[in-house]
Formats: sequence, structure tokens, C-alpha cells
Amino acid sequence: LNNGLALTPPMGWMTWERFRCITDCELYPNDCISEKLIKRQADLMVSEGYLKAGYEYIVVDDCWMDKERDSDGRLKPAPKRFPNGIKALADYVHSKGLKFGIYENFGTYTCAGYPGMFEHVEIDVETFASWEVDYIKVDACYSYKTLSAMEEGYIHLGQLLNKTGRPIVYSCSWPAYFEPFGIQANYSVLAKACNLWRNWDDIDDSWGNVTNILKWFSKNQDRLNPYHGPGHWNDPDMLLLGNFGLSYDQSKAQMAIWAIMAAPLLMSTDLSTVEPRIKNILQNKEVIAINQDSLGMPGVLKMTVKKIDVWMKPILPIVEGSHTIAVGFLSNRIDGYPYKVDVRLSDLGLHHPRGYVLSPMCGRQCEVLNRVKGRMFLS
Ligand code: DGJ
Repeated sequence: LNNGLALTPPMGWMTWERFRCITDCELYPNDCISEKLIKRQADLMVSEGYLKAGYEYIVVDDCWMDKERDSDGRLKPAPKRFPNGIKALADYVHSKGLKFGIYENFGTYTCAGYPGMFEHVEIDVETFASWEVDYIKVDACYSYKTLSAMEEGYIHLGQLLNKTGRPIVYSCSWPAYFEPFGIQANYSVLAKACNLWRNWDDIDDSWGNVTNILKWFSKNQDRLNPYHGPGHWNDPDMLLLGNFGLSYDQSKAQMAIWAIMAAPLLMSTDLSTVEPRIKNILQNKEVIAINQDSLGMPGVLKMTVKKIDVWMKPILPIVEGSHTIAVGFLSNRIDGYPYKVDVRLSDLGLHHPRGYVLSPMCGRQCEVLNRVKGRMFLS
């Protein structure tokens, strides 16, 4: 969507994967979807260095609403959990230098059964703008059955958002309600209508889930990638880092591949419990720089050798006139055995007659290599 926003993949924090639809604050005082949770995470975004690392949006997903609209048909938050209302919460988030995002749903109800936007699009857009929302995720439960009706409705909603004059990043979910059923979304429409879109199934807290998502994205990369770039991004869903399902190495792997895919980096974790070594991954400057590269090129799965995937993403040349490419190796092996793989630059389509400078980012071993040898020249 050409609204001047999301020129690099959006970075931030979102409630859903970690906090779901926890609404019982008596039983789960620290985890329920509430003003307290959002404020606490907003504080941590700043104090723990996430904002400085580039994570700027804080997005409240489903389950923030009251079950009913007010007498004027306006959305209202659950009064006990958001006693000061959403505008005050957005103000708080803004006062921290962060941006505020919210969730709604295109159909009659949200997926969790709260009021949807159906027949209320105008008033809801007006409400969000008056709350000074900076990002909206529009889900697609309980919606129309046809692709063209969805396209039309979402485009209309985008136009209304635009008319408010407020810069609002627009995240659309309709492909995720068609692609899993074998119906292909029209990505040229999406790229014009939305800043980002969820293509596929929800991420859950497991490595198996990450690899399923990667399988789908790599299988469909030729179809998706032409529509991926500044202002319009495919979204493979949230980062799981900091939660329960990924090992340390799997955490590095998700971060690396999301970076190389130029995917939105939306954490969904309790920032107060993230271990320092996981925080280091989430805030790794070089990895984030690859993700946030201004060319906005998507990564591709170039080849697989012995179940080890090789991903590549062109990035802004470090030296003018040269080509700079980020390369990621992702092992899908589960046999715990060390494998040696030979990958030639020519296998990756890299044929520059003057060769390439290799600048490894593979942790301690490479750091040692770097210190000993300086930069390695390959030809
Ligand atoms: C389905 C979406 O794909 C999730 O990310 C989340 O927003 C839930 N709906 C909320 O109900």
C-alpha cells in the first residue's frame, strides 16, 4: 500500500501468540489482555532496549473489547481490563516513544467472538483514528465466503483509513482464510491495498510449526515474492523467541530466517522473562539490519543439500557498484550428527569475476575466524 508507511518490515510486539485470549485477570493477573499488560510491556520495550533495536509497534490483538458496542454503536474496551479506555493507553504508549496498534475483524465477530466490523466499518475507522491508533490488524473470521467480496471490502476499509489523514499501518488477513484451502489470493491486489498481510496458518509455539510455515512460504516463493517489498509485505506471523517451544538454536534459526525473508518482526512474548541470551538474538544488530535493509528484497530458498537449506537475500551493496547478498544456512537435520556441506558460490548464482568478500555472522566460531584472518576473500 502506497501510504508511505512500513517501508521496511514492521517491527514490534503483539499479544496473540503468547497471551492469546486470556481475559481472567483474577486467575492470571500478569497475563490477561489488559491495560496493565500493555503498559508493562511498553515499559520493557524501552527499558530493555527493544525500541532502540527497532521494535516500535505495540499491538493489542483480539480480546480487548467488551462483548457489546455502546449505545451509539461504537466499540468499547472491556471496562475492567481497560479502565482508562484505549485512547489513554495509546497516549501512554506514545509517551514512551512507541507506536500503538490494535486488532479488529472484518466479519461479524472477531475469531474469539467479540464484535466485528461488519456494518460498522465507518464508525470503527473513525473510532480508531480518534484513539490515535498507528497500526491495525484486520482479521477475517466470520466474513464473506468469496475472495472478490473480501478484496472489495478490505480495499474500501483501506480507503476509509486513508481518509482519516492519520498514518495507520494496515495489516490484512484475508489470504490466511483462503490459501490453506487451496484458493490463491491475488497478491497484486494485496500489495496495493495493504501494508502487510497474513498469508497462511497461525504460528504456534513449536519448531514444527515454524518449519511448516517455512515449507509453505518457500514452496510458494515464486508466486509471493514479486509482491513483497517496501510498503507491502508477506507476513509469516509472529516471532516465538522468549516463549516455551523453541530451543536456543531454534530461536536463532527463526530469527535468522525471518530476517532473511524480510518478514515483519513481531515478537509475542513476556518481555519481563526473556533470558539475556534470547534477548541478544532478538536485538542482534546485524541480523536486524538484514531484515530492515532498505531494498526490501525477499529472501529465497535457493537450494537444499543434505536437508540443509540455503537461503539468500540481496541487500543494499556495502560497496557501491558491488552486489551484497545475505546467505543463511538452516539445518533441518534431526540426527544430531555433524554434516559437512560444500556449497559453491556459483551454486548460488554468484559469478562476479572479482569474487566476493565473506563477512560471516555465525557466532563465536566465525568471530574467532574473523579476528584471526580479518575478512576472507573468495574467488
Ligand atoms: C486469527 C489470527 O490469525 C491470529 O493471529 C489472531 O489474530 C487470532 N485470529 C485472534 O482471534
